[in-house]
Amino acid sequence: MKKVYIETYGCQMNVADSEVVASVMETAGYALTTDIKEADAILINTCSVRDNAEQRVLGRLTDIRSQKREKKLIVGVIGCMAERNKEDLFKAGADLVAGPASYLDMPNLIAQAEMGSKAINVELSTSETYAKIIPTRIGMGAISGFVSIMRGCNNFCTYCIVPYTRGRERSRRFQDVLDECRSLINAGYQEITLLGQNVNAYGKDLDENKDFADLLEAVAKLGIPRLRFTTSHPWDFSSKMIDVIAKYDNIMKFIHLPVQSGNDEVLKLMGRRYNREQYLSLVKEMREKIPGLSLSTDIIVGFPNESEEQFQDTVSLVDEVKYEAAFTFIYSPRKGTPAARIEDNVTYETKSKRFQELVKHLEKHIEEHSRQMVGQTYPVLVDGVSKTDAGMLSGYTEENKLVHFKGDETLIGKIIKVKILESHTYSLIGEIIDE
Ligand code: SAH
Ligand code: SF4
Ligand code: F3S
Repeated sequence: MKKVYIETYGCQMNVADSEVVASVMETAGYALTTDIKEADAILINTCSVRDNAEQRVLGRLTDIRSQKREKKLIVGVIGCMAERNKEDLFKAGADLVAGPASYLDMPNLIAQAEMGSKAINVELSTSETYAKIIPTRIGMGAISGFVSIMRGCNNFCTYCIVPYTRGRERSRRFQDVLDECRSLINAGYQEITLLGQNVNAYGKDLDENKDFADLLEAVAKLGIPRLRFTTSHPWDFSSKMIDVIAKYDNIMKFIHLPVQSGNDEVLKLMGRRYNREQYLSLVKEMREKIPGLSLSTDIIVGFPNESEEQFQDTVSLVDEVKYEAAFTFIYSPRKGTPAARIEDNVTYETKSKRFQELVKHLEKHIEEHSRQMVGQTYPVLVDGVSKTDAGMLSGYTEENKLVHFKGDETLIGKIIKVKILESHTYSLIGEIIDE
């Protein structure tokens, strides 16, 4: 049997999609391998959200192509870059190019590539949800699994390429999502993360009269020990969703709520549909109804013409919300998006200075939260041997904090009690507490 190696960049949607692709590749006669050297086909699942993500993949292509090989190799670029860069990727070293909506066509594309022709399918779809595919789980062990509940995005934030690479929003049917969750639970999974670019929009395109709150509640009732979801847009985060999160112990009290900016004019130019006050009052309602809530966010620094004052509004919002985690990015113009047409008067140097300043503020709050955890005991889902210290295990608390501790490998996949002894900015050290 031939072998395929899949390398994944970008967001969790891509991680979930790689599992769909792995499953489809099996029908094309390819078994999955984790050893790139023995691969007959290498598929790179790519991200276009920022320029550096694309550059990394182009470098990787050159890299793969420069290595000498005994046997014939097919190199495929799949995912968001395939949709954006199309035929140009052949010049960059690809034999096969497949966009996020064309994975069912992989057997055909692979057959073309095997015969030596350039294979491409970058059709956008208004309906493809891979409803019939049972993803081949790639992650280690049956511990934590992604279930994509919808594809695409209709929000068209002015800086963002995702609606162009992934097309319009379409939801998977309610029962299909529940069936997939049930099969993970039966396989012993401890954690499920429901995925979509904006999960709040779930169901709007279906005739089932169900929304995301209904879905979240139905999955929680199936009895998975830990339920998470991502990403939620602050604009259409309903009170009904907050109530469901508060009601079920197995829905993790951790919400990723990208704010992007703390300034009203910038938010407007970004097309985010909420202002600072509305965002803060959403946070207030969440904190009131959900005790122990942790919040994380995404922030873009250096949107075109962002003034120092506007930037300081973001800093002050960060100081007000005191996020438990955050992803910060320097704005990267994406050709074809409305923001990329705005002439920008801010230098890259200013942007990176602001970026550093913002990270300092974020880290101060994250460190503070971690420090407050010292001395207390938390349930931790053990996910494996620590990546930084082979003598330690690692896992995540319900609020998504990474913890390292000594313990036996038989604990992997279990939820155990860990007392926190020491805190660092992005991780904690603890010890197992016997019950
Ligand atoms: N649908 C999700 C994720 C989108 S991509 C959401 O709306 O939250 C993840 C993050 O990348 C975004 O939240 C944003 O902060 C960042 N991002 C998107 N486009 C960008 C761009 N052109 N430059 C810099 N960061 C960007
Ligand atoms: Fe991009 Fe906005 Fe859609 Fe998120 S909600 S994927 S940032 S367009
Ligand atoms: Fe990147 Fe596509 Fe995800 S652009 S962030 S891989 S949707």
